[in-house]
Amino acid sequence: MIILPGPASQKLGNQIASKLGVESIPVEHRIFPDGESYIKITPDVKGQNVIIVQTTVPQTDTRLLQLLMIAKTAKDYQARRVIAVTPYLAYARQDKRFLEGESLTFDLVLSLLDAVGVDDLIVVDLHSETSLQNIEGNNKLEVHTLSAIPVLARYLKENGYDGAFSLSPDLGAVERAKQAQLTLNGGFGYFEKTRDRKTGDIEMHVKGLDVKGNNAVVFDDIISSGGTMALAVKSLKGQGAVSVAAVCTHALFMPGAIEKLEDAGSDLILTTDTVETTYKTVSVTGIIADYLKNIL
Ligand code: R5P
Repeated sequence: MIILPGPASQKLGNQIASKLGVESIPVEHRIFPDGESYIKITPDVKGQNVIIVQTTVPQTDTRLLQLLMIAKTAKDYQARRVIAVTPYLAYARQDKRFLEGESLTFDLVLSLLDAVGVDDLIVVDLHSETSLQNIEGNNKLEVHTLSAIPVLARYLKENGYDGAFSLSPDLGAVERAKQAQLTLNGGFGYFEKTRDRKTGDIEMHVKGLDVKGNNAVVFDDIISSGGTMALAVKSLKGQGAVSVAAVCTHALFMPGAIEKLEDAGSDLILTTDTVETTYKTVSVTGIIADYLKNIL
């Protein structure tokens, strides 16, 4: 088995390799002046299980194409099995046609990975666990989903949030809050969104939980613009929560996001290393390495 850490996940790829005690072989890459990517991998992959580690963080399209290029080249050189570890899978949010004529990007990305010969795809906290039921499933590609919630919740428990409420930004993601509550033991819930008819502003409220005087943690899969999380934190603070942690698995943190979270009153911003960031992280190396050990 060999690991090829893609340009977006060199650190994570190397950490997974050292945890598994397998060789990590660098991928040569550069970007041409017109934006195209150049990729060169070791040609010695014949008969091997090749694990590519490449998260698809912005520049999303470039990262996705680089992943496809590495996988296709590994298959061209007769790799036995190609496993893409893509902890943050971009384009997963468009998993159904909300409006007629929209592109089903989740389906498209899976079809592309399948087309270049990826045998297994390992994703951490896929946007929605039900996404996989919405696609037609003509692909041979096997999708494995892991969760970072237990490791995040363990960190929080040991760092002042034992007994805190676990919350998700909406009902659709409430399973994450439920999962976190197994560790934090403070009860779980979700936010309901309402739109002010006059101003058009969206507000988020937790129903049925009295957060006043308690600590709370909001778990989301992604923080991108920070808008969703900021509304959630602000609402909890408004309802009298003492300390609120803003937690996500994938720290996209677009410009201005951190400021929004801080202005809303977040006491802690916590994420994982599925995306490289300078913020406080809990590592997903262990859960990915353990999973790879099991399937190989
Ligand atoms: C939405 O369905 C996702 O789970 C996140 O809540 C959302 O994508 C976060 O985006 P932003 O940070 O831009 O509000």
